[in-house]
Amino acid sequence: MKLIFLGPPGAGKGTQAAGVSAHLGVPHISTGDMFRSAIQNQTPTGLEAKRYIDAGELVPDSVTIAMVKERLSMDDCKPGYLLDGFPRTVEQAIALDDISAPDAVVDIDVPDERLMGRLTGRRICGKCQGTFHISKLDDEKVCPVCGGELYQRNDDKPETIDTRLKAYHEQTEPLIGYYKGLGKLRTVNGDGQLEDVFKAILATLE
Ligand code: AP5
Ligand code: MG
Ligand code: ZN
Repeated sequence: MKLIFLGPPGAGKGTQAAGVSAHLGVPHISTGDMFRSAIQNQTPTGLEAKRYIDAGELVPDSVTIAMVKERLSMDDCKPGYLLDGFPRTVEQAIALDDISAPDAVVDIDVPDERLMGRLTGRRICGKCQGTFHISKLDDEKVCPVCGGELYQRNDDKPETIDTRLKAYHEQTEPLIGYYKGLGKLRTVNGDGQLEDVFKAILATLE
């Protein structure tokens, strides 16, 4: 199955993609994770993307589309893919239709007023890459799954979050209409318990 997770920053795309990709047997491809790893490894793509990501703006389409095209050509994408954070502009969606069109698009819907708290309280494990929220952690620095050290993303500062939300509304939200027009959109309420959102996603795919 070829699947897209759409939704604003903090909607829970990464959190839900971990379980859903395992369930479907397709790779979880997060362009945000790919950029962060490229930045860490100081590749040309990473060097180009860093200033946009740090500012909360979208990386130019040409860079992002080339990176995704290469990733989707790899062998593990033969059974399909779960794209998280791509496409994020209409131009990216048109390019994806050309590379390998999705079967379905799940829009994880969460009201804006919930997102700031989710993002400022997010912590990520440097060892297992798990995503957590401080409201559910006994120790804000230690991963409850593997004991690794937790860190905060550079772009999870309130000012940068504001810019990311603006970019979402202006550049990414039009994709809801784009995929509705193609009959591929499935909207799921993302403002609930983790397990309930997970079940709602699987139900909408049946
Ligand atoms: P990216 O990494 O994709 O960031 P994002 O879209 O801003 O989304 P997030 O990862 O912040 O949110 P999420 O929906 O994954 O939420 P999560 O599951 O972590 O992109 C980063 C940057 O890279 C972009 O700003 C841009 O610069 C660049 N980029 C990436 N893709 C691009 C593209 N295609 N084109 C151009 N540029 C691109 O959850 C968040 C928090 O909420 C966690 O703490 C979690 O524990 C908590 N949470 C999750 N679900 C629930 C729930 N149901 N109830 C309560 N809390 C919950
Ligand atoms: Mg994410
Ligand atoms: Zn961990």
